Amino acid sequence: MMLAQLVIALPVLLSTSSIAVDLPQFPFTLLPLQPLFDNQAASVNGSVADFDGAGNSFDGQFLPVGGFESDGVTYELPASWGSGNDNVITNNQILMLPENTFVHELHALYSGDSHSDNSVTANNFIANFVDNSTQVLTLEANNWWGWPLLNLGLIQSPYSLEENGGKNLNQTSIFQWSVAVSSEKQLKSITLPPENNGARLHLFSVAFSPSSTSTTDSPALVIRRAVFSSRWELVNGTRAQAVQVTVANLLPASVFSANTSINSKHTIEISGSGITTLAPGALNRLTPGDQARVDVLITGATSGSNATIVIRNANGDVVGQSTGWPATALVENYSADVASLSAHETPTWWRKAKYGIFIHWGVYSYPAWAPPTSYAEWYNYDLHNPPNSSNPTWVHHLETYGPNIIYDDFISNFTASKFNASAWVDLFDRAGAKYFVQVTKHHDGFALFDTGNTTRRSSVNFGPKRNLLKELFDTAAIEKPNLHRGTYYSLPEWFNPDYAKYGFGQWPGGLARNPFNTTPTIEPYTGHLNISDYIQDLQLPHMLTLATDYNTEIMWCDIGGPNMTLEFAAEFYNHALANNYQVTLNNRCGAVPDFLTPEYATFNSIQTSSWESNEGMDPFSYGLDSATNASEYKNGTTIIQTLVDIVSKGGNFLLDVGPTAEGEVIAPMADNLLDAGSWLAYAGDCVYDTVSCGWSCSCSLHHDPTSFCIVAFDAPTDGQLIIHKRLPLLPGDDIVLLSPNGSQNSLPWSTDSMGNLIVNVSASAVSEVEYAWAFKATYKLSQ
Ligand SMILES: *[C@@H]1O[C@H](CO)[C@@H](O)[C@H](O)[C@H]1NC(C)=O
Ligand SMILES: *[C@@H]1O[C@H](CO)[C@@H](O)[C@H](O)[C@H]1NC(C)=O
Ligand SMILES: *[C@@H]1O[C@H](CO)[C@@H](O)[C@H](O)[C@H]1NC(C)=O
Ligand SMILES: *[C@@H]1O[C@H](CO)[C@@H](O)[C@H](O)[C@H]1NC(C)=O
Ligand SMILES: *[C@@H]1O[C@H](CO)[C@@H](O)[C@H](O)[C@H]1NC(C)=O
Ligand SMILES: *[C@@H]1O[C@H](CO)[C@@H](O)[C@H](O)[C@H]1NC(C)=O
Ligand SMILES: *[C@@H]1O[C@H](CO)[C@@H](O)[C@H](O)[C@H]1NC(C)=O
Ligand SMILES: *[C@@H]1O[C@H](CO)[C@@H](O)[C@H](O)[C@H]1NC(C)=O
Ligand SMILES: *[C@@H]1O[C@H](CO)[C@@H](O)[C@H](O)[C@H]1NC(C)=O
Ligand SMILES: *[C@@H]1O[C@H](CO)[C@@H](O)[C@H](O)[C@H]1NC(C)=O
Ligand SMILES: *[C@@H]1O[C@H](CO)[C@@H](O)[C@H](O)[C@H]1NC(C)=O
Ligand SMILES: *[C@@H]1O[C@H](CO)[C@@H](O)[C@H](O)[C@H]1NC(C)=O
Repeated sequence: MMLAQLVIALPVLLSTSSIAVDLPQFPFTLLPLQPLFDNQAASVNGSVADFDGAGNSFDGQFLPVGGFESDGVTYELPASWGSGNDNVITNNQILMLPENTFVHELHALYSGDSHSDNSVTANNFIANFVDNSTQVLTLEANNWWGWPLLNLGLIQSPYSLEENGGKNLNQTSIFQWSVAVSSEKQLKSITLPPENNGARLHLFSVAFSPSSTSTTDSPALVIRRAVFSSRWELVNGTRAQAVQVTVANLLPASVFSANTSINSKHTIEISGSGITTLAPGALNRLTPGDQARVDVLITGATSGSNATIVIRNANGDVVGQSTGWPATALVENYSADVASLSAHETPTWWRKAKYGIFIHWGVYSYPAWAPPTSYAEWYNYDLHNPPNSSNPTWVHHLETYGPNIIYDDFISNFTASKFNASAWVDLFDRAGAKYFVQVTKHHDGFALFDTGNTTRRSSVNFGPKRNLLKELFDTAAIEKPNLHRGTYYSLPEWFNPDYAKYGFGQWPGGLARNPFNTTPTIEPYTGHLNISDYIQDLQLPHMLTLATDYNTEIMWCDIGGPNMTLEFAAEFYNHALANNYQVTLNNRCGAVPDFLTPEYATFNSIQTSSWESNEGMDPFSYGLDSATNASEYKNGTTIIQTLVDIVSKGGNFLLDVGPTAEGEVIAPMADNLLDAGSWLAYAGDCVYDTVSCGWSCSCSLHHDPTSFCIVAFDAPTDGQLIIHKRLPLLPGDDIVLLSPNGSQNSLPWSTDSMGNLIVNVSASAVSEVEYAWAFKATYKLSQ
């Protein structure tokens, strides 16, 4: 019904205002970088470039030449590679901008040149404005090489060339970066980051997008990008594809006012051959210099066709439209190849969820011990490496259990005798988590699910003799269907005899030697069955079992290494599609990742790719570590502030608990989780279902486009919260402090000419809140 009305309305509107409504393209201007070139990245035809200072280089035959378009910007690359310098190593050089330029975004093609895999190095560009004020723009630079199939660069090549002409088969990449720049003032120049010894930053091409110079008194809208995604939602029973449309107001923040902003209910629709918009995107507020991302739900897109994006105001009038956006059909069936699987993305539910609980529980929960800065779940590996008195785990084991007890003897002590799945899922729910990830098999090879004829090394046959994963998943599905269910799975096993032919690094495979030289000198591998190939007969079947028998929604692999992940991922995704749910794969499965997993680490700046940081409640360990004092566990403050910080940079937080061998989450861990949960119960609006925004650090923008949040980590003092930054506030907006007593009193606020915000808040209101102070601003829309 609604759709029919839209179709009828369209010709009328086009006849009245079609000329005025065509939106301009997103603008960009290249900054000349060639005069600064001082490094050659690429070798061609035997020329020997030294990109990384160690004689290694890109093979130029894989790199594009000349104009190279990505994400709305056409960069400049060399007309041919291999014949001279082609990039600059940053070292405080200054790039001048044309006079009188307000800048909306800065863009670059870059690579880091660290010698360690997958490293990320923060580099600070300095924006220098005409009044001599500055802004720091942080690029968390990816390294130029990484494991095959895992390097997420824009321009990828299959190997690097070594000095001697040999090939290193790690993938190499050039990456793309765009960042918002303040447009309060004209930008004079950009100072490139200082040289970073050991991980230098190389720039290949740099561009900027100028703010609009329009002098009309209305917003300067452009469609920044439109991404036809693999995500979908059901709209009245129809599977509708999410198209993420980013709309920018290109006016500079220097002309900030109600008139230069969008401040009423606007909708975003998509049309084009075969396309029907089922649920328009909503856009209510867009101030100068800002951008908004909205999902539009559609059906009927075909790959290779063009789509038109239409913005309408509250009266249904078209106020802007933009044509020529390449459409991609919603994937209905994945095949086991990189091209097909790379289209997969983290689903919408995962992006909205923000907070999950990780559970490290297994045989290692019985010894539950590690020396400082070691993982308790690594007990068995540590016990054997090295097997002598210089090793604290070896000494601890000898003193505690004597020389005749081996790790597999602990299997009978892993009893799960007090395990109550209802209690666990109730705890996770009250903690405010939206998903959990259970370790189903760690590097010790002991599984918590039914591994059938692949191995008997599981809790079904030994120890508790229970299918612990099934109990947990079935209970969660019935009692807490709001919690999404995920599984951790270690691809390698330390001491599985069948892994010996694949072993590498700290995952050698092959039976362990008794560390005390007692008999048997070669340790058994309890439950092992004869199979011919570890990957085909054990690893892949386990992963498929988790996908199809347990319907896991997150496959959270660890370690990578030899794998059949392409075959797995296709079945994982297709099984979920056939059953109408959406799943995701992390970046440790050896191929085609949906999201990154920094460990005990976060990013300092907003990241555009999906990421999830994981940490234990323990300051180092994931498995329960009896050597840690309970007072060292993350408390309510640390949990909430870590979560909000991560969410404000676009990530999710996976917080780990280590239950006891009996199956209990000990009180000091549970209590701290519940403390954090009590905050989320009243301030969760500022965490869940938010998108991070470019204009502030400790804040997130609500997905519901009627509000945004500011979260302060320090209690406001002297009755005032002061934010030294312009936020998208207009007169009449309502600001409240989210509070446990539910009171939502409007707080008086004002801004100065630079947009700095002062909110008045009473000491008594401040004192009712713990851990973090979440201020929610709701827009007062004009009619
Ligand atoms: C490399 O060799 C090919 C084939 O001989 C030639 O076409 C190309 O121009 C050479 N490239 C450079 C950079 O010398
Ligand atoms: C900025 O600094 C330069 C160099 O120190 C100085 O000449 C200029 O007057 C300053 N501009 C402003 C607006 O303060
Ligand atoms: C990746 O590079 C590292 C360090 O140079 C090297 O040890 C490893 O063998 C390389 N991997 C592949 C697949 O070539
Ligand atoms: C905004 O627009 C209104 C109505 O057109 C006008 O009265 C007002 O002066 C404008 N305000 C500014 C700051 O330009
Ligand atoms: C979905 O169904 C509801 C109730 O029948 C209806 O009001 C609404 O218009 C439908 N929406 C679409 C996009 O068809
Ligand atoms: C899509 O639009 C582009 C640019 O507007 C045009 O070059 C191309 O031919 C169009 N493709 C189709 C399939 O209409
Ligand atoms: C998916 O594609 C594969 C081969 O590409 C085919 O065998 C299978 O039947 C397809 N499944 C569906 C549900 O279309
Ligand atoms: C223990 O073994 C390691 C590795 O073999 C060796 O470096 C170390 O010296 C040994 N320590 C003792 C006390 O034997
Ligand atoms: C661990 O298991 C062994 C063998 O079943 C048993 O003798 C021992 O008492 C158990 N330890 C504890 C603390 O239950
Ligand atoms: C395990 O059983 C499955 C199904 O019965 C069979 O296809 C597979 O070959 C068996 N694997 C081994 C290692 O025996
Ligand atoms: C995963 O398997 C693929 C395909 O065999 C292989 O190319 C890739 O190197 C493996 N990943 C890792 C991290 O070893
Ligand atoms: C919470 O932990 C942090 C970090 O260890 C500490 O600084 C803070 O004092 C703790 N808060 C409380 C209330 O114990």
